[in-house]
Amino acid sequence: MKVAVFSARPYDSRSLDEANQQAGAAHGVEFLYYDATLDVHTAALAQGCDAVCVFVNDRLDAPVLQALHGMGVRAVLLRCAGFNNVDLAAAERLGFFVARVPAYSPEAVAEHTLALIMTLNRQTHRAFNRVREGNFMLEGLLGRTLHGKTAGIVGTGKIGLATARILHGMGCTVLGHDPYPSPDFAGLGEFVSLQDLLARSDIVSLHCPLTIQTRHLINDDSLALMKPGAMLVNTSRGGLVDTDAVIRALKSRQLGHLAIDVYEQESALFFQDRSGQIIDDDVFQRLMTFPNVLVTGHQGFFTTEALQEIAETTLGNLGHFAAGTECPNEVTSG
Ligand code: NAI
Repeated sequence: MKVAVFSARPYDSRSLDEANQQAGAAHGVEFLYYDATLDVHTAALAQGCDAVCVFVNDRLDAPVLQALHGMGVRAVLLRCAGFNNVDLAAAERLGFFVARVPAYSPEAVAEHTLALIMTLNRQTHRAFNRVREGNFMLEGLLGRTLHGKTAGIVGTGKIGLATARILHGMGCTVLGHDPYPSPDFAGLGEFVSLQDLLARSDIVSLHCPLTIQTRHLINDDSLALMKPGAMLVNTSRGGLVDTDAVIRALKSRQLGHLAIDVYEQESALFFQDRSGQIIDDDVFQRLMTFPNVLVTGHQGFFTTEALQEIAETTLGNLGHFAAGTECPNEVTSG
């Protein structure tokens, strides 16, 4: 099996090669690594391959899938949980096998969520710079004790639950909202309506998938429902948040803090070194001017353990495709 790996960074090739080596030569898998993001212009790189292996910002819309199909590609292996970047209807129509990695260390994303909350609350990112410059003033670094505060978790799946467990352990009152409430949430917090969660939470953390229903879940109306000065955290998908609305809420001081690991237009920015370039995205640049905004470049998943799980599950998914056996991680109907 030949697999074209798109958006491949050195850490991807290291973890995939390692997992491939452990699976043994009999497995017969060859990975071809491409730095390029998959789109209509780069699809040709998959010529002669049986499968493509893709990440969050690779684009698998109908024209791309059509092009891949024309080259003989029959499988799409997602190195991530979310599959909002795949036109599933088109994939089904063309008979593609599409499989994802449904869970890879949910704790990794939950711990990153906590890192964002703690950093923004106690301004350790600013303290780091100040102390290095010999400035030991505390003015401007005032935080709030999180113990006893209310944290709202939107989406109580694997990552939401892991985040709820940590916040509960820190002494926060935890609220949850999910159309499919998980029984595992009992004992950690209370399920409430989204309106109630927004109105009562000091911290709102998003952990639901991006779907037609959840796009711009955070907009002018929902921001207005939030507690004045509350913190919004998004480590899920950028499209859950209307960034223009968030900027308005930051300017009016309605929103107190914003921490994001994902951004709606991230595919044009993230996973690249753009430090020597002019960034044309004015919305993103406006966000960067706020002292109460913290942005990381989609690194929530980025731990050694998670990379290993992603690589092993991806190889397992490929194994199912090659053998024609039922794959528990397939997102097409199979
Ligand atoms: P999951 O499938 O275990 O949980 C998602 C939960 O959201 C489910 O319980 C579902 O019922 C709920 N949900 C669906 N629609 C909702 C709505 N309208 N309101 C509230 N809840 C809703 O998924 P998991 O593994 O917890 O991942 C959550 C999201 O995190 C993924 O969809 C992905 O977008 C993102 N993610 C981000 C990563 C990063 O590196 N920043 C890494 C991995 C995932």
